[in-house]
Amino acid sequence: MEKRTFGNTGFQVSVLGFGAAPAAYLKADRDRVAKMLNDLIDNGMNFIDTAASYPGSEEFLGEAISHRRKDFVLVSKCGTKQPGLEGENWSASLIKQSVERSLRSLKTDHLDVLLLHSCDLATLKKGEALGALVEARKAGKIKFAGYSGDNEAAAYAADLPDVAVIETSINITDQRNIDLVLPKAKQNNIGVIAKRPIANAAWKPIANQPGMYQNYAKEYTERFQKIGLNASDLGFADNDWPEIALRFTLSQPGLHTAIIGTTNPANAQANLDAANKGPLTKEVVQKIRDAFRKADPNGTWTGQT
Ligand SMILES: NC(=O)c1ccc[n+]([C@@H]2O[C@H](COP(=O)([O-])OP(=O)(O)OC[C@H]3O[C@@H](n4cnc5c(N)ncnc54)[C@H](OP(=O)(O)O)[C@@H]3O)[C@@H](O)[C@H]2O)c1
Repeated sequence: MEKRTFGNTGFQVSVLGFGAAPAAYLKADRDRVAKMLNDLIDNGMNFIDTAASYPGSEEFLGEAISHRRKDFVLVSKCGTKQPGLEGENWSASLIKQSVERSLRSLKTDHLDVLLLHSCDLATLKKGEALGALVEARKAGKIKFAGYSGDNEAAAYAADLPDVAVIETSINITDQRNIDLVLPKAKQNNIGVIAKRPIANAAWKPIANQPGMYQNYAKEYTERFQKIGLNASDLGFADNDWPEIALRFTLSQPGLHTAIIGTTNPANAQANLDAANKGPLTKEVVQKIRDAFRKADPNGTWTGQT
């Protein structure tokens, strides 16, 4: 599995990462998903993203993989009220408690990266929330601080000296951050994580989207229809969309890892295989970029949180 230098953090991260938000909605399938995740790590995937606000996700990871903590870069997020945390959203006090809660749940003594979980620009500018991450870094509880979010807030965060990592939405149906955030991140040598990297499988009919994805994937599904690309025009077959989507995201300069959310072992294996094929050709990337611009000529499609 290709590894990329993760900004100035010193980590070498696999281009395919694991987004553990869906792990939050697991009940019966914990053992199957734990095996899937361990198999991914055995196959070179070394990057895992979770959050204090994904119910059960940190606990699941603590049970499934904390025994091999050295094998992966661990990212969590914080900032909003969660069970057991007291205080205002984005306050230093709440974030301090959140760090301790994440460490307990994840069964580890440090996080590699802790991100502010999509606070708005005003909260970023206020500085208290990011200051709490800096304190956690000084105390050795986290190695690097960063921001997860989109659009102007992510572009602003990419210029802050204490921000070492940005997580932002980049995919075939969500391309604004490619122009707004990636160039600044590259210039400042920031580690970049693509969230929602295969557009929530926007090629699927919305009726076939599972659970929470029915609402969540709606915007991307509508955009995908409007963009109207045919896989055959890109030199692929219709059932290649997961591969096209992942490889498009991994083709963007300055981006290091794509954290696909899956709980399906067959899809996890397909994603590994697709990641191992490397970026798309420049021509195919350009066709997808052109089709997006044509479908949204006035730039109204903002990055989706
Ligand atoms: N604000 C934030 O910080 C924020 C916001 C959103 C997401 N995130 C992070 O980003 C991660 C990924 O985002 P996401 O899960 O929303 O989007 P995503 O990875 O783009 O899409 C996930 C969807 O794609 C499907 N899928 C995965 N591999 C597939 C394949 N090979 N073929 C067909 N379908 C496939 C999954 O279904 P199956 O389970 O059936 O495979 C799931 O429905 C999250 O887990 C979370 O860690 C962060």
